[in-house]
Amino acid sequence: MTKDKDVYILGIESSCDDTSAAVFCDDKVLSNIVATQDVHKAYGGVVPELASRAHQQHIVPVIDQALKVAKIDKKALSAIAYTRGPGLMGSLLVGSSFAKSLSLALNIPLIEVNHMQAHLLAHFINETDSKVPEFPFLGVTISGGHTQIVKVKDYFDMEVIGETLDDAIGEAFDKCGKMLQLPYPAGPEIDKLAKTGNPKAFSFAKPNVKGLDFSFSGLKTSVLYFLQKKTKENPNFIPDNIEDLCASFQYRVVDILLSKLTKAVKETGISQVAIGGGVSANTGIRNALLEKQNTSNWEVFIPKFEYCTDNAAMIGIVGYLKYKNNQFTDFATASKARYAI
Ligand code: KG4
Ligand code: ZN
Repeated sequence: MTKDKDVYILGIESSCDDTSAAVFCDDKVLSNIVATQDVHKAYGGVVPELASRAHQQHIVPVIDQALKVAKIDKKALSAIAYTRGPGLMGSLLVGSSFAKSLSLALNIPLIEVNHMQAHLLAHFINETDSKVPEFPFLGVTISGGHTQIVKVKDYFDMEVIGETLDDAIGEAFDKCGKMLQLPYPAGPEIDKLAKTGNPKAFSFAKPNVKGLDFSFSGLKTSVLYFLQKKTKENPNFIPDNIEDLCASFQYRVVDILLSKLTKAVKETGISQVAIGGGVSANTGIRNALLEKQNTSNWEVFIPKFEYCTDNAAMIGIVGYLKYKNNQFTDFATASKARYAI
């Protein structure tokens, strides 16, 4: 039997503050280039207008680089996949306009991708040592904008069974990090500092939320009041205790997440748990999940670091899956700032 012709997909991601392009041959990554935007650091958060301008500056060099590393001429591409949403509208428009123009110029199909589905479908990227979850599994999207537990019944059949009622988990990391005088994005900084801190040094509030939903605003307030009280007694309280503060905060976040996941596994009877989104890079969360795998019937799927935070490889794999299903997009398809999974 002869092998089907190789499919080459260019994936483009520009939903927030990372401009990324990836080239795929079937379900394998040939390149995955990410340009992050340092311009937001000075503001302590993403400034939408600056993000779209930076995407405009980065998009051509990033795509050029992705094709170069993949050693693929753009004329060899079979289709272009891009992030339709959710995300910042100005940022999404840069990627979608570029994807549409290039697909028109090359006369190849266009494929729209839901960013949150992509975070979960990143598990299907074919890597030599990768293990792949089986349907149905529990997908957990933990990022700067989302915190969801999703029943993934098939590639494009997903049901949200729990989500945050207020802040996203990444937002909790970033906002509490700001209170701890850490630079944006504070998630990775807290993770680093927590490694040498005592997670039991301070006790922060655990919210009492019904069902499988989450809340992080109470934890944020608990950290704020605690810091206000302590810095009144000692103005250097934060720098003097930064490792313990980070470790104690992270301990509570991991505790909140694991409690809800335990409940979700029990209620659904599904014990395969696959995480995705920027916060899945967190060491505390990864270690807690691996420990759970060792001590229970859970099977845990954790993406490689480069497929956790925003990247175009996850867009490319969805592009490939949709290409095989002939799920193409027309040029009139509009970007969506809000786009349900
Ligand atoms: O998925 P992502 O790159 O962008 C969104 O779609 O939001 O996630 C970004 C979020 C930020 O809140 C960042 O602080 C958080 O992921 N993050 C982390 C870590 N690395 C990134 N949070 C905790 N620990 C980390 N190691
Ligand atoms: Zn994301």
